Amino acid sequence: MTDHYAVLGNPIAHSKSPHIHALFAQQTGQDMDYQALCLSLDGFAAGIHALYEQGFLGMNVTVPFKFEAFSACESLSERAMLAQAVNTLIRTDTGWRGDNTDGAGLVADLRRLMGDLAGKRVLMLGAGGAASGVVKPLLDAKIDQLTIANRTASKAMALAERARHLRINGCGYDVVPDQPYDIIINATAASLAGDLPPLKAGWFDQNTLAYDMMYGKAPTVFLQQAQKDGAGQIADGLGMLVEQAAEAFFLWRGVRPNTQLVLTKLLNDL
Ligand code: ATR
Repeated sequence: MTDHYAVLGNPIAHSKSPHIHALFAQQTGQDMDYQALCLSLDGFAAGIHALYEQGFLGMNVTVPFKFEAFSACESLSERAMLAQAVNTLIRTDTGWRGDNTDGAGLVADLRRLMGDLAGKRVLMLGAGGAASGVVKPLLDAKIDQLTIANRTASKAMALAERARHLRINGCGYDVVPDQPYDIIINATAASLAGDLPPLKAGWFDQNTLAYDMMYGKAPTVFLQQAQKDGAGQIADGLGMLVEQAAEAFFLWRGVRPNTQLVLTKLLNDL
């Protein structure tokens, strides 16, 4: 019997998730299908209830429903609680359990790009949903320190406060020290509009990996500027997309797909 999965969003037509999960399923011999479903903006809770009744085993959740999914789940993983956002739903006997695989996806991709993350100094730009999902997994990877800078400084401080037992601080862009970081992550939505957060050239040097959670055919404006400012390595978020999907696939099926094969295929298809 074929098991049913889906990704829920609005809009959803351009999601790569169905393709990624189809490749995972083929590679690991799993009998499953995975569809992209567009839910109405006020229809999320009713939608996941209906899909539960129809016997679906799991769901991914994307923009704009990650926060609503957090409130709508019957139970939550620790990393979802810290993120206050959910991107993966797992069926249980009594309802949906919410998890968040974005941070694990980012960490796996950063490790692919630069090896062990222990001791790295990390600057994250942005303090919205994308940023909050990755804080705990980054710190669990034993990075040395995490600075979160945001246009609205109070949001960065609130996010840091939520994880205050960890080595983390939140601030506005103007007070970020003008010194090089090992990893600078763009978790703002600025690239979507072709905008840039206010970067300082002194943050980048030959050892800096500049990472944009967004991805596209060409490098984002953030990655272009980071390169001009001297970043030694740049990468967009396609790898994170594949890795967060693999982590969700593992939660559902108990099997880890080979992400490198799938990433190579997606890059060839771009
Ligand atoms: P997401 O779920 O994609 O993170 P979000 O929760 O709306 O979306 O957060 C968007 C993030 O991008 C925020 O950190 C936002 O900064 P503010 O909190 O100050 O709004 C940031 N952002 C959006 N456009 C930006 C821009 N042009 N320059 C700098 N930061 C920007």
